[in-house]
Amino acid sequence: MAERYILVTGGAGFIGSHTVVELLEEGESVVIIDNLSNAAADDKGLPPALKRVQDLVNEKHRKRLHFRKGNYGDRKILDSIFTEFPIYAVVHFGAFKAVGESKQVPMKYYKNNVKEALSLLKAMNAHGVKNLIFSSSCTVYAEVPPEKLPLTEDSPLGECNCAYASSKYFIENILRDVTVSDGQWKVMSLRYFNPVGAHHSGMIGEDPKGIPTNLMPYIAQVAVGRREELNVFGSDYPTPDGTPVRDYVHVVDIAKGHVAALKALPAMQQSFRAYNLGSGVGTSVLEMVQAFERASGVVIKTVMKDRRPGD
Ligand code: WQD
Repeated sequence: MAERYILVTGGAGFIGSHTVVELLEEGESVVIIDNLSNAAADDKGLPPALKRVQDLVNEKHRKRLHFRKGNYGDRKILDSIFTEFPIYAVVHFGAFKAVGESKQVPMKYYKNNVKEALSLLKAMNAHGVKNLIFSSSCTVYAEVPPEKLPLTEDSPLGECNCAYASSKYFIENILRDVTVSDGQWKVMSLRYFNPVGAHHSGMIGEDPKGIPTNLMPYIAQVAVGRREELNVFGSDYPTPDGTPVRDYVHVVDIAKGHVAALKALPAMQQSFRAYNLGSGVGTSVLEMVQAFERASGVVIKTVMKDRRPGD
C-alpha cells in the first residue's frame, strides 16, 4: 500500500485510542488531533494514553503514529496536517458525550460537536479529502415500543431528548446533504450502542476525568475503592430485574468496526451509509454488576436510587 495516513480526531480518548491501536496493527499510518479535554496530560503535555498506545504496538508501527494537540475544528492546525501528511480518510471521534451535561449546557455541545465538525468538513473539502468515518450514536434513533426492538438502521430517527443526541443527529443530516451535493464523498456513520471494556493488555481503557457518568467506569472505580458504592438509577423498569437494560459492546469490537468500515469505503455503492455497532443483546445494570463481580472477584456495593432523569 502506498503510504497514506488516517487522521483520527479525538484519538487520545477511550474509543479513539483503541481504534488507533487497531489501525496501526492493520498497517495504517495515523495522525491524531486531540485537545485533551477529557484526557490527562504528562509534563510534556502529552496524553498518557498516547504513550501507552506507543508501548502497545511494535517499533515499526510506533513510527507511523503522530500527534497534534488542538481542536479538531482548528483550521490552521488542520491545514498544516493536510499539507504535511497524505491523508486518505478521517475517523472523527472528537466530541463531548455526556448526555446529562448536554441538557444543562446545550450550546457547549452544539458549538463543539456541530460547529467544529463543520469546520473539519470544510477543511477536508478544501484539501480534497472526502472519506470519512463518523462516530455516531444509537441516541439518533427515536424511541420505539419494546416490540420494535432491537433497533435496526431502518428504525425511525430523531426526536432526540438531549443536545448530545441532537448534535449527532444533526451531523448525520449534514453529512447526508454533503454527500448528495458531491458524490465524491464517501461517508460511513457508525452508531454505537454502549461501548465498554478495555484492551486485553490492560494498558489502555476508560479513565474519564472527574466523576464518571457512565456505568462501567463507575463500577470499576467502586471496585478499586475510589468510590464507595454504585447508585443504581431505577429498579422499577419493565425489565426482568427492574433495572435498565442497554446493549453493551466491547470497545475493541467497536475499534475493529472502524477498521472494517475503512476497508469497505472504496466499494461503497452509496455516498452515505449508517451502521449500528452493537451486540444485539440487552444487559441490565444488576447483570453488569454481577458480571463485574464474577470477573474481578470484588464485591460491588450497590444502592437503589430513583430513575435518572432522561434515561
Ligand atoms: C447505562 C445505565 C443508567 C451510572 C450512553 C452514553 C451515550 C450514548 C448512549 C453513544 C443507565 C445506569 C449509570 C450509574 C447507573 N452512547 N447507571 N448508575 O445512559 O445508556 O448512555 O449510551 O453515543 O454517550 O453515555 O449509558 O453508562 O450512562 O448508563 O445505574 O452510576 O446504567 O441509569 O440505565 P447511557 P450509561
